[in-house]
Amino acid sequence: METPQKAPEASEKKVLFSGIQPTGIITLGNYIGALKNWVALQDEYDCVYCVVDMHAITVRQDPANLRKNTLELLALYLACGIDPEKCLLFVQSHVPAHAELCWVLNCLTSVGELSRMTQFKDKSRKHADNVNMGLMDYPVLMVADILLYQAALVPVGADQKQHLELTRDLAIRFNNRYSPTFTVPEPYIPRQGARIMSLQDPSAKMSKSDPDENGFVAMTDPPEVIARKFKRAVTDSLACVKAGEDRPGVTNLMSIYAAFTGRTFGQIEDEFAGRGYGDFKAAVADAVIAALSPIQAEQKRLLADKAYLHGILAEGAQKAARLANKTLAKVYKKTGFYQL
Ligand code: TRP
Repeated sequence: METPQKAPEASEKKVLFSGIQPTGIITLGNYIGALKNWVALQDEYDCVYCVVDMHAITVRQDPANLRKNTLELLALYLACGIDPEKCLLFVQSHVPAHAELCWVLNCLTSVGELSRMTQFKDKSRKHADNVNMGLMDYPVLMVADILLYQAALVPVGADQKQHLELTRDLAIRFNNRYSPTFTVPEPYIPRQGARIMSLQDPSAKMSKSDPDENGFVAMTDPPEVIARKFKRAVTDSLACVKAGEDRPGVTNLMSIYAAFTGRTFGQIEDEFAGRGYGDFKAAVADAVIAALSPIQAEQKRLLADKAYLHGILAEGAQKAARLANKTLAKVYKKTGFYQL
C-alpha cells in the first residue's frame, strides 16, 4: 500500500465527482442512492456530474439507444434538481482527456490488480461472450474521470468502493513516482445512506437488470405501475410495520418511505402501529409517486427542448475540457512526453 502525499492546488470548495452510465433504465435505487444526494451536495461542493457513455460500451450497446439514453440521462439529472449553474454537467466522450489520461494510467496499472476486481469477475461471468479489454480497463477509465478534476470526494455505492481504492492507489503511485499532481480522493458516504433493495428479493440490491420487473421501480414508471409494484412487494407474515435485520422486505420499504418523507423508522412505526401491510404499501407507493411525477413531467418537458440541452452539453464539455486539460498537460509533461 502506497502512502499518500499532499497534492497541490487548493480551491475554497472541494471538488466532488460522480457519474452514471447511460444504459437505459434508472431505478428508484439509483435515485435514492445517488441522484437525490447529488442535488443536496451542489451547494456545499464544486460538483462535477458526468454521463459516462464510454463506460457504457464495455457491454454491447445499441448505438441509437445509447444516443437516446445519453440525452435522457442528462434531462433526468436536470429534472431531479441538479442545477447547471452550480454544477458542471457533461458527457464523458465529449472530453478526450478521459481516454488520454486513461492510457497513461494504464501503463502504471498491473494486469493483476485489474483481473482481481470483483466487478470485472462478475461482469466477465455475466457477459462471457464479450470479455473485452474495456471491461477489464473500466476501473482505470473511472480513475481518469476522477483524477482529471482533482476531485476530493466521490459519492459511490458499495459496489464501486474497490474502484475508488484503485483511484487512490494510482493517484498516490503517480504522485510518488513523479511529483505531487493528483488530489487523492476520499469516498463520500451520504448522511442518509439507504441502500435500496429489490422489492421481490430484499437480499439483493435493486437493479435494472433484475429479470423480474417487479423487483425494481424505474424512474419512468407511471403511477399505476408503481402502485402495483409496491402492492406486490415481498414482506413477511408478521403483519406489523417494524424494522429489523430479520425483516429485510419491510425494512426496505421503510427506507424508501423514510427517504421521501424524511421520517425516522421510529416515526414510521408509530404512524402504522396496528395497521396492516396493505395500508403501509399504499402509503409508500403514494410517497414515491408524489416524488417521481414532477420529475417525470420535467424530464419530458426538457427532452422537448433539445436546443437547451445541447447548450448545456456544449458549455459543459468546454468547461470540463479546460479543467481536464490542465491536469493532463501536467501529466504529459511529468511523464516525459516531448513538449512543443
Ligand atoms: N462506475 C460507476 C458506476 O457504474 C460509474 C462511474 C464512472 C463513476 N466513472 C465514475 C462513478 C467516476 C463515480 C466517479 O456506478
